[in-house]
Amino acid sequence: MSATDRDRYVLHLNHALAMESALLDRLEQRAAAVHQPELRQRLLTHRDETLQHRDAVRDILTALHAEPTPTSAKAQSPVTPSLMGKVLTALESETEDKLLDDSLTDYALESYEAAVYSALALIARNLGYAEHATRFEAMRQQERAAADFFAAHLPAIVREAFPPAARAA
Ligand SMILES: [Fe+2]
Repeated sequence: MSATDRDRYVLHLNHALAMESALLDRLEQRAAAVHQPELRQRLLTHRDETLQHRDAVRDILTALHAEPTPTSAKAQSPVTPSLMGKVLTALESETEDKLLDDSLTDYALESYEAAVYSALALIARNLGYAEHATRFEAMRQQERAAADFFAAHLPAIVREAFPPAARAA
């Protein structure tokens, strides 16, 4: 493996670490803001998973003898100069349908994370880090499950944002 491949792998890992650190704060805020108990519980469960993901990525960086980026890093990583930044900017802007928009953002972020770990698992495998790949695959599954939950919960959010009109036949 060339030093360059390893360095680029480390760069992607540092971006994943920044992403998890930023999402940890976001999930806390989301859990505090929502009022459906089932959704709040799922957000808190995923907050715990996110904490584990952050630590796992940090462990892998340490094992590679790479320096983890300070954890206050924002999620605007060069891996996706725009996507995470745009999503979070959109999130921070006040909109008419904040409840609905935040739920769509929950789904987008988790789907994005699932894709990041899918890519990291493939990179790790190609570079000969089979054990890392196994851990990334497990993390991918947790991100996917979170995204699937948020998608399944969307009808309840929409019902609240746009209650069905009682129409006369
Ligand atoms: Fe996640």
